[in-house]
Amino acid sequence: MKIAVGSDHAGFELKEYIKGILPPGEHEVADVGTHSPESVDYPDFGLEVARRVAAGEADRGIIVCGTGIGMSIAANKVRGIRAALVNDLYTAAQSRRHNDANVLVLGGRVIGKGLAEEIVKTWLSTEFEGGRHLGRIRKIDDFEKNTDR
Ligand code: RB5
Repeated sequence: MKIAVGSDHAGFELKEYIKGILPPGEHEVADVGTHSPESVDYPDFGLEVARRVAAGEADRGIIVCGTGIGMSIAANKVRGIRAALVNDLYTAAQSRRHNDANVLVLGGRVIGKGLAEEIVKTWLSTEFEGGRHLGRIRKIDDFEKNTDR
């Protein structure tokens, strides 16, 4: 799987950790930055990861800021992106099964590395169930396409 990852300074350490748990044989990881703990603006990195996923340059995205909130707001502005802010394993699985989330958002100041690792593994390995959930996602897609906001 091609995975684009990104963070701001508050998510930098967790983003680096996550890269280490994505085996090169299984995943192709593209890191859009940031590349140091120096203060930066989260939209610069969240939007770039979202753009890559929406453009098909990556299959999935993983982004990290302090709370995950800013990154979620930014990524969900990009057409075709379903970014899920996840802090627990149940939501990690459900965001795939029911929402077909294509971007995972984590709060680097909210959860620890152990939980983040389990969330990432669960999120990457859980399939979308389709069926009635597909119809619901299509309603969001139609809104995106047909609403001039
Ligand atoms: C940075 O201080 C912090 O605001 C950012 O990482 C994020 O939590 C925003 O939502």
